[in-house]
Amino acid sequence: MRTRSRPSLAELQHLARKAGAILHSGYEKDHQIDYKGVIDLVTEIDHKSEAFLLGQIQERFPGHCILAEEAGKISGNDEQCWYVDPLDGTINYAHGIPIFCVSIAYAMDGEIRLAAVYDPMRDEMFTAEKNRGAWLNEHLIHVSQATDLQRSLLVTGFPYNAWTSPVNNLDFFGRFARRTQGVRGLGSAALDLCYVAAGRFDGYWELTLNPWDVAAGGLIASEAGAVVTNLEGVADYLSPPCSLLAASPDIYQPMLAVLHEDR
Ligand code: IPD
Ligand code: CA
Ligand code: CA
Repeated sequence: MRTRSRPSLAELQHLARKAGAILHSGYEKDHQIDYKGVIDLVTEIDHKSEAFLLGQIQERFPGHCILAEEAGKISGNDEQCWYVDPLDGTINYAHGIPIFCVSIAYAMDGEIRLAAVYDPMRDEMFTAEKNRGAWLNEHLIHVSQATDLQRSLLVTGFPYNAWTSPVNNLDFFGRFARRTQGVRGLGSAALDLCYVAAGRFDGYWELTLNPWDVAAGGLIASEAGAVVTNLEGVADYLSPPCSLLAASPDIYQPMLAVLHEDR
């Protein structure tokens, strides 16, 4: 029988906070590192955090579908689906750089409804509920009021196959570096989006992402007032090939134009 039990935003926060405690307690310890690709690594803490989250979701919401970074797709009722990144910013984590988070989103009938991204090092809990807003801890957040690309601070990231793939973001990075106040790379797509939501960055773009990287951060950014699409300007940014452009309203079109200026 199909279950329609729904989580609350408080439940997502609770899960993110608990998984964040796992990341925090393992931080700066020696890690068991396995390579999923030439430069794409995973630690035992990614697995520990994910095992905790999957166990909790399956126990509390049996039958829901889950898309998790390390386990892949756990089939279930497709109308209720979770997107889990147990540690976003793994390379930072493995190098002892304190910029990483837990990212959890819940979708119903194909639409992301709830999101929680937790940074355990700063105790920053970013959340959003569809049509209700976005919060940092208990405060409502809003994107910046930037109107001028030249004075905007942007953030981006590079794919793990950047050594070999022509879709490596280096060209776009060069274009924006010449036209803005600066371009940062935090190393966590989920936090990149939350920082746009909180007005710390004015815009974010990235190619070659996975749904678990951006499902939660995408809702948090859009509920905070960002325009959020894929790099083609299409609203459905979770369908492959997954890419993302999120920016304050007046910065979005100028960014899209720069991304497409050679077409
Ligand atoms: C990565 C981070 C990074 C982004 C990569 C992602 P991971 O996720 O979000 O910022 O540039 O594309 O894969 O591997 O740390 O979970
Ligand atoms: Ca990730
Ligand atoms: Ca991850």
